[in-house]
Amino acid sequence: MQNRREFLKTSAKIASLLALGGLSSQSLLASEKQGVKMEFLTLNNGIQMPILGLGTYALTGASGQKAMSEAIEIGYRLFDSAQMYGNEAELGAAIRASGLKREEFFVETKLLDSPSEDATKKSIEKSLKTLGMDMIDLLLIHSPYPHSKAMYKAMESFYKQGVLKSIGISNFGARAYNDFVQSCEVIPAVNQCETHLLMQQIPLREAMKKHGTLLQSWSPFIAGKGSILDNQTLKNLAAKYNKTPAQIILRFLIEQGIGAIPKTSKKNRLQENINVFDFVLSEQDRKTLIGLDTNKSSFSWTNY
Ligand SMILES: NC(=O)c1ccc[n+]([C@@H]2O[C@H](COP(=O)([O-])OP(=O)(O)OC[C@H]3O[C@@H](n4cnc5c(N)ncnc54)[C@H](OP(=O)(O)O)[C@@H]3O)[C@@H](O)[C@H]2O)c1
Repeated sequence: MQNRREFLKTSAKIASLLALGGLSSQSLLASEKQGVKMEFLTLNNGIQMPILGLGTYALTGASGQKAMSEAIEIGYRLFDSAQMYGNEAELGAAIRASGLKREEFFVETKLLDSPSEDATKKSIEKSLKTLGMDMIDLLLIHSPYPHSKAMYKAMESFYKQGVLKSIGISNFGARAYNDFVQSCEVIPAVNQCETHLLMQQIPLREAMKKHGTLLQSWSPFIAGKGSILDNQTLKNLAAKYNKTPAQIILRFLIEQGIGAIPKTSKKNRLQENINVFDFVLSEQDRKTLIGLDTNKSSFSWTNY
């Protein structure tokens, strides 16, 4: 188990992160009042985004909607959807069925490629209609598509109207990101990319820090590929903190100000994955986990 000295030392470190505005202590307190422990990231436009949410890839149909509803009951408020996942309707329905106010949620979705600014406007309207909502908290371009710059112009226009609360990108590596921001009027709030112990995206994070874009991790468990959860270093840390390997990974990402959207359809894992706000990794343990980084993608289709 972590000793008291280590705990105090790392708590002090987290407190200084909070003071820098990476994580918001105010929101953490507000959220605890409602009986849900959550930490928040402050985006470059001042909007507070839950640092942890549910990835919804493959959560479709009645079973997908049921998993989303269970997640809401457990306390999840951020949901990551995409036009590509075909589940924006299920997400909208799960949120309406909860009886909670729309403002309590942080709804994220991602656009497929569109050939022009006008076509993108229609595509955004389609997502709003499918979700059954009049605003989206965070809209991303799913990948660096050939028409990304024109697509982003449409997003900037909806952002200015307040229909999109925040806008961003996904799967833009450092080179693509540096090129893209040159043409942006509104700097992307978030870049959602593959990020896990073996691919910690350190060069990309450095590039984005200069402009104020935050990283959100997709596939924090490498989508179940390559048995990262069986890694012995991770298992040792899990035993030390009385947590699971999955919880150690999520805590590690969170402590570096990286958002995470693990996906599961299982109720016990939904509980497990959100139960990561009651411990702090020691500096030494964090360094050990940083040491696992290979800066190599585990997916053949990515281009970082
Ligand atoms: N922008 C992009 O291009 C992009 C690409 C990929 C993913 N994403 C987003 O990121 C989300 C997460 O990524 P992902 O779905 O690829 O993979 P992931 O979250 O890394 O892993 C999901 C896998 O881990 C299992 N799992 C979840 N919690 C677990 C736990 N506590 N213990 C053991 N196993 C656990 C799940 O199984 P069960 O479901 O059976 O529990 C599933 O097989 C996606 O759902 C999607 O929203 C975005």
